[in-house]
Amino acid sequence: ATIFVLNGPNLNLLGTREPEIYGDETLDDIAGQLEDRARELDLTIDMRQSNHEGHLVDWIQEAQARGAKAVILNAGAFTHTSVAVHDAIKGVKTPVIEVHLSNPHARESFRHVSLVGQAAKGTIAGFGALSYLLALEAVARF
Ligand code: DQA
Repeated sequence: ATIFVLNGPNLNLLGTREPEIYGDETLDDIAGQLEDRARELDLTIDMRQSNHEGHLVDWIQEAQARGAKAVILNAGAFTHTSVAVHDAIKGVKTPVIEVHLSNPHARESFRHVSLVGQAAKGTIAGFGALSYLLALEAVARF
């Protein structure tokens, strides 16, 4: 089974972007860790990143069309703003797991509302790159 791992705006800069908040691992590092664990679990990872909101909508729809087992989604700042991403999650039967490197609830108040979280099956936040791996462990048990 395939798991889509979708990443939103500015996550291409991981490694150099505010490392005190997001850590020094790159998105490629995280992809490598996910692929190693997925192999053990007999799962396939399809990892993508875009700075564009509509790409996330397209990819959530594509996950369902391709019969993906689940979507692991770090929507970045669109988490807090995007009705379109919220509606896309609601619009598919594919389970979507919200992940964040940081803990948005412990940060600025504009990060305290998650439109993604209001549509997602569950949320894992605050564990850095490990958030993604924990989401994969959850998905493997579905
Ligand atoms: C983030 C948290 C968001 O608030 C922020 O806009 C990001 C990254 C995280 O992974 O901690 O871009 O999704």
